[in-house]
Amino acid sequence: MTRADWSRVTAATQAVLDRLDATAIGDVYWHEDGARHFRDRRGAVVTAGRVLGKALLERVPTGGASLWVGAGLAELPVLLAEVLLHDRAVTAANLRQAECDLLNAALQAALPDVPLRYVAADARDAAPGATFDHLGCISVFTDPETFAVLSDVAYGRIAPVQLDVDRFVAERERARTLAVALFARLQRPGLVTTTAEEVAWFLETAAAAGAGVDAGDELLPTAVVGDPVGFLAVR
Ligand SMILES: C[S@@+](CC[C@H](N)C(=O)[O-])C[C@H]1O[C@@H](n2cnc3c(N)ncnc32)[C@H](O)[C@@H]1O
Repeated sequence: MTRADWSRVTAATQAVLDRLDATAIGDVYWHEDGARHFRDRRGAVVTAGRVLGKALLERVPTGGASLWVGAGLAELPVLLAEVLLHDRAVTAANLRQAECDLLNAALQAALPDVPLRYVAADARDAAPGATFDHLGCISVFTDPETFAVLSDVAYGRIAPVQLDVDRFVAERERARTLAVALFARLQRPGLVTTTAEEVAWFLETAAAAGAGVDAGDELLPTAVVGDPVGFLAVR
């Protein structure tokens, strides 16, 4: 990949960010003072996206397909790199309709001919019947809106004495079911991009499915949530 290649991704990312409704997208993520937070994080979205995108493109084939779970603003440069530089098909699913609508409006305005749009759906149901050589899952199993108790445990925000054990067990089963369903959509060999806090869900699922996994040592930053991201090569 040349410097000129990556300039295309940066220019495309900036064009989309320029057309995003800063107040509305900021409010989705930060709830208060959203436009200011968006302006503060905008540079990090581009730079962290470049680092993660370059690392990903070294690991996935041209012309393959990715399923991204819970993808949002932080993944935008990575998704664009896959489509623009590696001719990959990207399915980016996210449960938040408003976030998908805002990102899609900006994508449509900036890059009408680029085949990338977010899908407001559960990733298990997106692109039905398709399988993927890459699964991206960044800060989903730690999402406080989806897994409130698991999120508190994963980030060490709850004291053991406060843990609602029944709720914890129910959420853990829900998360296990999600991990199994997502893993079933991954071809072998395949690649999983995920965070240090979530990796155990995929290691458990891979072991149960009899798949071999090589976990890379490299951990990269993300721009919005801030969890470190790495790669699992699945055999
Ligand atoms: C904490 S946010 C992380 C967003 C982004 N990946 C980042 O790192 O900035 C978690 C996202 O995962 C989404 N999510 C949770 N479960 C999902 C599922 N089964 N399918 C698709 N998206 C899901 C939520 O809607 C939310 O947008």
